[in-house]
Amino acid sequence: MQPDPGRDPIIYFDNAATSWPKPPEMMEAMIRYNGMIGGNPGRSGHHRSLDAARIILEAREALAALFGCDALRIVFTKNATEALNISLSGLLHAGDHVITSSMEHNSVMRPLRFLESQGVQLSVIPCSGAGLLNPDDVRAAMRPQTRIVVVSHASNVTGTIQPLAELGRMTRDQGMIFCVDAAQTAGVLPLPVEEMSIDLLAFSGHKSLFGPQGTGGLYIREGLEKQISPLMRGGTGSRSEFERQPDFMPDKYESGTPNTIGLAGLDAGVRFVLAEGVETIRRKEQSLTAQFLQGLASLQGVSVYGPPDAASRTAVVSFNIAGVSPSEAALEFDERFRIMCRPGLHCAPAAHRTIGTFSQGTIRFGFGFFNTGEEISLALEAIRSLIKK
Ligand code: ALA
Repeated sequence: MQPDPGRDPIIYFDNAATSWPKPPEMMEAMIRYNGMIGGNPGRSGHHRSLDAARIILEAREALAALFGCDALRIVFTKNATEALNISLSGLLHAGDHVITSSMEHNSVMRPLRFLESQGVQLSVIPCSGAGLLNPDDVRAAMRPQTRIVVVSHASNVTGTIQPLAELGRMTRDQGMIFCVDAAQTAGVLPLPVEEMSIDLLAFSGHKSLFGPQGTGGLYIREGLEKQISPLMRGGTGSRSEFERQPDFMPDKYESGTPNTIGLAGLDAGVRFVLAEGVETIRRKEQSLTAQFLQGLASLQGVSVYGPPDAASRTAVVSFNIAGVSPSEAALEFDERFRIMCRPGLHCAPAAHRTIGTFSQGTIRFGFGFFNTGEEISLALEAIRSLIKK
């Protein structure tokens, strides 16, 4: 469908689902790849194929600079969900024990519930009403069979930021694997993987990294690839004389022609983040969130979920308006105010059970780097008008 210029501009508050707009460099890089390169990376010896391979290497290097790791520790996937599936299905076997939190997205919960049906033991640690995980509760749940602790860095429902460094230290001290879902935080909170004792980091490319949809990846700590089976096997362009899957990084997990055009865009998006600086991006998003939370606090009939202060959460705010269902509110926001948001359960039913909003869910506003204080003021006006109605 074509955008309707007569009805633009919109206020885009659905950055937690996917960021928009993207920096212009992202689209320029994709157009450049398509028009001037177009080859299949690592498959053929001609210069267009070599140029394509160089783009993918540059994308890996940009991510390695962001996470403070070696470029070859990054595996590209189509999204954070695929990265989490590689981590969990590739590592866990019947009899193993895994610990997670009650704030997880279904990208963690569904693979774990499936693995549970295959004999893996699962502990889901209840979080507070604001969505916070207590590391002492995680410690108490650890057993000799515990193989992995897997948590989201920040909830996609409430934005609650978990005490990652402490959880990582504790997990590594016990010789267990620490797996982090950074779908909501890569690009917006610092993620130095070694310093934070992260063994596996699943990230989305199309949210705060400003890449296109269909991009994501997984950081794998050195040596851990020996323990993780790939989800898929096939051609990698490397060691083609063997019918067995390569066992080295990143080829072990990257079979088939990659999404080179998408990775060209992701490379540009990550370079935008590196140039702006994660701290600058975070400061801007935190200030928008603080403005919104402050505005909501003065409104009667609005319930806000998650930590009360912007410093303890990402730029995601879930709320409800008394007497209006989240989906009705979202429709009004869209049709009357041109505000784009996401209502409902956000693929995270356990999180909504934790904060007491199952099954109707919440209205979720997800702010991004390109939003403005003026848009927040307009949104508060829109909420006021829905309350009056
Ligand atoms: N996981 C994304 C969200 O929270 C799609 O909306």
